Parts: sequence; structure tokens; C-alpha cells
Amino acid sequence: MIISICNNKGGVGKTTITANLAHALANKGKKVLVIDNDPQGNTTSIMLGETIEPSVTLRDAYGDGVTPTIYPTQYENVSLIANETATASLEPVLYGDLREAYHLLNDIIKDITGNYDYVLIDSPPNLGLFVIMSLVASDAAIIPLVSSSRFSIEGFVAAYDAIKAVSDNFNPRLKFLRAVINRVDKRTSVSKLSIEHIRQHFGSRVFETTIPHTTDIEAAEQSQLTVIRWKPQSGVSKRFRALAEELIDLIDPVV
Ligand SMILES: Nc1ncnc2c1ncn2[C@@H]1O[C@H](COP(=O)(O)OP(=O)(O)OP(=O)(O)O)[C@@H](O)[C@H]1O
Ligand SMILES: [Mg+2]
Repeated sequence: MIISICNNKGGVGKTTITANLAHALANKGKKVLVIDNDPQGNTTSIMLGETIEPSVTLRDAYGDGVTPTIYPTQYENVSLIANETATASLEPVLYGDLREAYHLLNDIIKDITGNYDYVLIDSPPNLGLFVIMSLVASDAAIIPLVSSSRFSIEGFVAAYDAIKAVSDNFNPRLKFLRAVINRVDKRTSVSKLSIEHIRQHFGSRVFETTIPHTTDIEAAEQSQLTVIRWKPQSGVSKRFRALAEELIDLIDPVV
């Protein structure tokens, strides 16, 4: 199962959710590949920490047709295709042959994804080429939303429309899976109202599990770790484990 975590809005938790969901799925015995398709490289940093400096990344793949290296990460059963800032400068070059560019990531990974139970793809905060590439290579998409923002729904609509357009035009196997609500602060009424609003709007297309707003996430990120590794017994780590369970039940329910 290849899943893109995407939203054109920045800072909604795409990277945090990709990294922690990958770690939680691996802890449940799943074999996971993470693809950092964002030149910001934040997922690469949380996955590798300071253990390895990746030498072959998606820059080499997109720029020079090199097969990207699959790196072992700090987390057992999680592997990584890494990214780096220099990839960003390739985007205008790749626009030269858009049809081919849209399929680049899919072509690169199509023979290896069968080796994994889950492939999670992180993308940049826009609806540009790299995001389209991610969606063309995916079976499903998860859209993170921030509970305290009244712009959540607008952000969702743009991401959903992009998924629909890619599904209609390039990749009929792509489906919108679920939205996930991040940065929930149960003490504030705006958060409560926003969650009610989101649930009314999307019904069952929203994960039951929500992710709380907590400084533990930023602290873990500072140490280049998932919060599951940094503070395994924290409330937010439990939520990520619950999110992984919910995803597994959705994808391969036990009969
Ligand atoms: N639930 C949360 N509680 C507190 N801080 C959070 C939470 N989720 C994410 N953050 C913090 O917010 C910032 C943005 O999160 P993250 O990098 O996961 O978002 P993103 O959507 O990947 O951003 P970008 O669009 O730049 O790629 C990070 O500093 C992260 O530590
Ligand atoms: Mg990110």
C-alpha cells in the first residue's frame, strides 16, 4: 500500500505524521519504506538523525537518472529514500517534459514497493510537480488538517481536488483515504468547534484518532527523532500508535 501524506498548506504536520506513522507501523511488525519527496528534507532528518549523511538522494534520481539508495533508518523495519535541498532547483528543469516528470517517482519505485507492507510518501507544501509525482505513485492519500485553523477546510478542498485530478487524469488507482486532525487542543473552544465542523463536513472520511497539540513533537524534532522514540509513553505517542492501528484495520482488516 503506497500512501501519500499531502496538503498544500505548510506546517500542518505532514512530516510529523509521515515519520511517526512509519515508526508506529514498523513497531506493529510492518515493513515500511518512507520516501521523502520534499526537498526541505525534514523527513530525511527525522529518519536518519546524525547517523548517516545520505549520498544518493532523489536529486540524483530526478537529475541524473541514478537509482536512489534505500537507507536503513534509526528505526527497525523502516527504510528511507532520502532528499536534499538541491532537488528544489530541478523542478523548473523537469517542467520541460511534464508528462514524463509526473511519472518519474512512480517509475523509480514501481519495482521495489512490493517488498514493503507500507510505503509512506511525504511531499512539499504546494500543489507543484513533486506533489503530483507523489500522487501519481500512490494508491491512497491522507490529508492532515489543523484543528485550530478556520482555513482547514479550504486547505482540504485544494488538496482533495488535486487528488481527484490526478486520479482522473493519470492514476485511476489513487483514492482519498482519510483526513487526520492534528494539533488538537481540547481545552480551547475553537479547537472543539473546528473538530465538530470537520467531522460534520467529512463524516467517516476522518480518522477517529486525532493528534494533540504538544511541545513534545517539537522537542523530538529538535533531537531528529520521532516522538515515539523520544518519549514512548507520552500521550501523543499513544495517539500515533492508535492511528497506525486504525490505518491497519482500514487497509487489511482481520476477518
Ligand atoms: N501536534 C503538534 N503539536 C505541536 N507541534 C506540532 C504538531 N504537529 C507538528 N508540529 C510542529 O509544527 C511544525 C510543522 O510540522 P511539520 O513539519 O510536521 O508540518 P509539515 O506539514 O510537514 O510542514 P511543511 O509544509 O513545511 O512540510 C514542526 O515544527 C512540528 O514540530
Ligand atoms: Mg514537511
